[in-house]
Amino acid sequence: MDDPAVEETMPIQLRVNGITHTIEAPPRRLLSDALRHDLGLTGTHVGCEHGVCGACTVLVDGAPMRSCLMFAVSASHHELTTVEGLACRDGRLSPVQQAFKECHGLQCGFCTPGFLTTISAGIRDNPDPDRQEARDMVAGNLCRCTGYQNIVASVLRAAEIQREEDGR
Ligand code: FES
Ligand code: FES
Repeated sequence: MDDPAVEETMPIQLRVNGITHTIEAPPRRLLSDALRHDLGLTGTHVGCEHGVCGACTVLVDGAPMRSCLMFAVSASHHELTTVEGLACRDGRLSPVQQAFKECHGLQCGFCTPGFLTTISAGIRDNPDPDRQEARDMVAGNLCRCTGYQNIVASVLRAAEIQREEDGR
């Protein structure tokens, strides 16, 4: 007789940071768990597991999404970007990563992957934010260490680096 405690699994295809993976997982596997436990991409952090803290934010077709609120199967056939995929192809830090380094935008680093992904999308959509727009950009992400000042400074610096790189 089937053990009701054993969940049935299904193949789920995920395209993450330009690489296609197929995992075998229950249909209710959360995207955050699939990334961390099935694919070993532990840069995506899980804090609240309720869509509140933003630590688990990844990009789904370029849009920031809480991976703790999404089933992996729903992310199938979409382009996913995690913090591991943000660096430039030549190995240099991305503008947002570089800005966090320059402006001391992190302390313990737990929240940082979610900020990096969120801001990467934010400065793409608004390449020249003012301070208030920078604050609004990160308003959905929680950080218990920094007091946010250096994170806002990082947003402004990241946008500046990106504009320099784009020749704007
Ligand atoms: S772990 Fe997903 S929003 Fe907090
Ligand atoms: S740097 Fe520690 S929670 Fe943000």
